[in-house]
Amino acid sequence: MTDMSMHYLGMKLSGPIVVASTPLSESIDNIRHMEDAGASAIVLTSLFEEQLALESGTLDDDLSRGTNSFAESLDFLPELSDYRMTHEGYLEHLRRAREAVNIPIMASLNGATSGGWVHLAKEMEEAGANAIELNTFALATDRSQTSAALELQLLELVSSVCDAVKVPVAVKLSQSFTSVPNLCGRLEEAGASGVVLFNRFYQPDFDIEALEVRPTLHFSTPSELLPRLHWAAILYGHLKGDIAITGGVHSAEDVLKAIMAGGSVAMMVSALHIHGIEHISRVLADLRYWLNKREYASLAETRGCLSRRSVPDTSPYDRGNYIKTLSSYSLRQTVAAF
Ligand SMILES: Cc1cc2nc3c(=O)[nH]c(=O)nc-3n(C[C@H](O)[C@H](O)[C@H](O)COP(=O)(O)O)c2cc1C
Repeated sequence: MTDMSMHYLGMKLSGPIVVASTPLSESIDNIRHMEDAGASAIVLTSLFEEQLALESGTLDDDLSRGTNSFAESLDFLPELSDYRMTHEGYLEHLRRAREAVNIPIMASLNGATSGGWVHLAKEMEEAGANAIELNTFALATDRSQTSAALELQLLELVSSVCDAVKVPVAVKLSQSFTSVPNLCGRLEEAGASGVVLFNRFYQPDFDIEALEVRPTLHFSTPSELLPRLHWAAILYGHLKGDIAITGGVHSAEDVLKAIMAGGSVAMMVSALHIHGIEHISRVLADLRYWLNKREYASLAETRGCLSRRSVPDTSPYDRGNYIKTLSSYSLRQTVAAF
């Protein structure tokens, strides 16, 4: 029987499939179902920095002093009552989730700046979180905001959360950084035990009749996996900590690709919204079948086998691939197809 266990953030997990942050895990029944289906850990939905500031009244204070850090988000900041859970409700849910299942439960904080709200990480730890996932999302909408300043702000946030807790902290990153390897190295120095590649960027769509800009949320497709594989494959072997892949993981093949790129775990959300929580068990069965057929003793031995440091020809990961891909495209074939 192939050993499916993987190590992530210092925890030995029963398998590679972790449920990423999703409202599905707001139900304890669903959380039990996820464990039964074979999920090896669960990340709860995020508590947002803005929500905590609203709850504690510090947002009002910041606004009156003109020092708030959420200027660009104020127009669409939901009312406090629109958030799914208060922070007390969240901590209670976390406690109940920990009691309900044996697999690790990770709490999630979503923010952009360090500040008083960071103490919530400690409360999450005290409520039983096995790890904290810090979902970071800052968007430059002003030409005075430099990349360097945004990276520094992120590093300060990570370092203040890591200082606040003893449990491991994984940082869920946006894809929009110029030097991902450099940033990930500095995140480790700031205390992060792992990186989660990548946050999805929910761009608004335009309604050209109503002349309105509307938020959209589509579930992912497997094509979204490719940039994650690319960066995981480049990072593998250059970080001490772990790499988790979230975005576009739908099938056993996707899970294998995530691990072969260098991921410790593959996270799923869209596939569970589309096919149901039971989908985890089908993917695990397919994965086991694939590994058994090729006589792998463990899934872990495939980790990183297609990473940049493992393949003899690294050009697919480098600029050469860009040139080769574009120059090998034949216009004649396309014309014939039309
Ligand atoms: C309805 C929904 C709600 C989500 N809420 C959160 C959240 O609160 N915090 C977070 O870090 N990610 C959140 N995500 C992002 C997922 O955790 C995941 O990273 C993303 O959907 C990519 O994975 P997928 O391709 O398997 O869907 C959410 C995704 C969906 C679809």
